[in-house]
Amino acid sequence: MKTPMKSIDELQAALRDRHYFADRGLATTIFLALHLGKPLFLEGEAGVGKTEVAKVLAAILDTELIRLQCYEGLDVHHAVYEWNYTRQMMHIRLMETQGQRPAEAELFGPDFLLRRPLLRAIEHVKPAVLLIDEVDRSDEEFEAFLLEILSDFQITIPEIGTIKAVQPPVVVVTSNRTREVHDALKRRCLYAWIDYPSFERELEIVLSKVPDAPAALAREITAFVQELRQADLYKVPGIAETLEWTAALVALDRDALDESVVGDTLGVLLKYRDDIEKVQGDEVATILGRVRAGA
Ligand SMILES: Nc1ncnc2c1ncn2[C@@H]1O[C@H](COP(=O)(O)OP(=O)(O)O)[C@@H](O)[C@H]1O
Ligand SMILES: [Mg+2]
Repeated sequence: MKTPMKSIDELQAALRDRHYFADRGLATTIFLALHLGKPLFLEGEAGVGKTEVAKVLAAILDTELIRLQCYEGLDVHHAVYEWNYTRQMMHIRLMETQGQRPAEAELFGPDFLLRRPLLRAIEHVKPAVLLIDEVDRSDEEFEAFLLEILSDFQITIPEIGTIKAVQPPVVVVTSNRTREVHDALKRRCLYAWIDYPSFERELEIVLSKVPDAPAALAREITAFVQELRQADLYKVPGIAETLEWTAALVALDRDALDESVVGDTLGVLLKYRDDIEKVQGDEVATILGRVRAGA
């Protein structure tokens, strides 16, 4: 893949221009994936910025983002192609009114194909960014199939033949690690683990994405979320929650945190009742105390 970026610094700057703040390590892995033409495998908790990498890359490379959202039971029909039965039926009826019958080869030709993300990515003339999102949700059978596609970028449709990518797409695979993804798939890719950001990095993200937020409020919010991530919770907030919380507090015209506003808006940060109950009250006060002490 020819990329406009000649160096890691340049890539990091291009990401930043699109409001994506990547550590040197992540930027290096992305840079290498682009230059070596290897898929990128991004693993990490929900909301740490995996999906966003693919979106931003498509913007930087000025190409289409083709997304395959994985789920349990995802199969070839939804990932690659399916025959358009409705269209085939209509075609048959239309020909019947003219006293004709369509040839089978015609009905199972390119005009009657429903192209799903993997086929679209392979057919794309200018390499697209193919996002295979949350692969850990699919089953192992699909994973094995994916491995095949990622090794030769070709798809065989029995009725039509083999379609091979002129230039393979830029592939980004993500996993929230709800289960371990097979070694074989990971080995095909360049791997990066994305961690929760440091305080400085997260503050940078908040200030860049919610520019209306007063700087002092943004600092308090970021410090609060960073502390909250240390608590023993079922699901700690990701960056998406920090951004939503900031937007919520700006909408409420706040310029500082206090116990009552935090208590009233905890549902923006935490999505499990048990987590909210655990934090509500004393814990909020304790964390606020620590945030102020650190300020
Ligand atoms: N490094 C980052 N720089 C800028 N924004 C980020 C970063 N990481 C995450 N975000 C933002 O956080 C939100 C969640 O990111 P997302 O990519 O959807 O997470 P994931 O796919 O890991 O669950 C998005 O709004 C994204 O823009
Ligand atoms: Mg995601």
